[in-house]
Parts: sequence; structure tokens; C-alpha cells
Amino acid sequence: MTHSQVLVCQYQNCLERGAAEVLAAFLAHSNVTAIGVGCQGQCNMGVTVQVLPDEVWYCRVKPEQVEAIVEQHLKQGKPVEDLLHPRFHPRFG
Ligand code: FES
Repeated sequence: MTHSQVLVCQYQNCLERGAAEVLAAFLAHSNVTAIGVGCQGQCNMGVTVQVLPDEVWYCRVKPEQVEAIVEQHLKQGKPVEDLLHPRFHPRFG
């Protein structure tokens, strides 16, 4: 497990899309450091999640997708491509 920090937006638009449940799903993993933060400026793509220090952004995250982020990204260091925010991580090819 890396020393990643997971920022989960807890502002209006993201909350309406289940941000509290997403944060709770991260916090259910005792070895994950997750904190609720204010608006990340990506409201139309919420729930917005950022992983630091990697500066990897995820969008439209649902609670049931948290497991994949924890297992693949936080434990194995491989970002979950399907959930990457296209504004920060444009797809090539
Ligand atoms: S409300 Fe979550 S990014 Fe703005």
C-alpha cells in the first residue's frame, strides 16, 4: 500500500450523486487515507475523486467502484483506466 491520500469531493453536485457513500466506501478500508474536500471544480463529472501524490483524477465514481480503485490503484499502483477523468487524462490512440 502506498501512502496515497484520496480526496473525495463532498460538495453539492457530488453529494447529490452519492459522494458521501463513496467516501464511506474508501473509509471502510482501514489502511486507506481518505478525506472529504470541497468542490474540485469538476461538478458536472462528479463524484470527483483525486488520488495524491499521483495527481490522478477519477470522475463519476460510484460506491461500488471504490473497491477497484483501492485494489488496482492504491495497492498495485495501476490507475483504473475506465474511471479516469478525461479532462486530466486524455486517452491516446
Ligand atoms: S461539487 Fe464535486 S467537483 Fe464540484
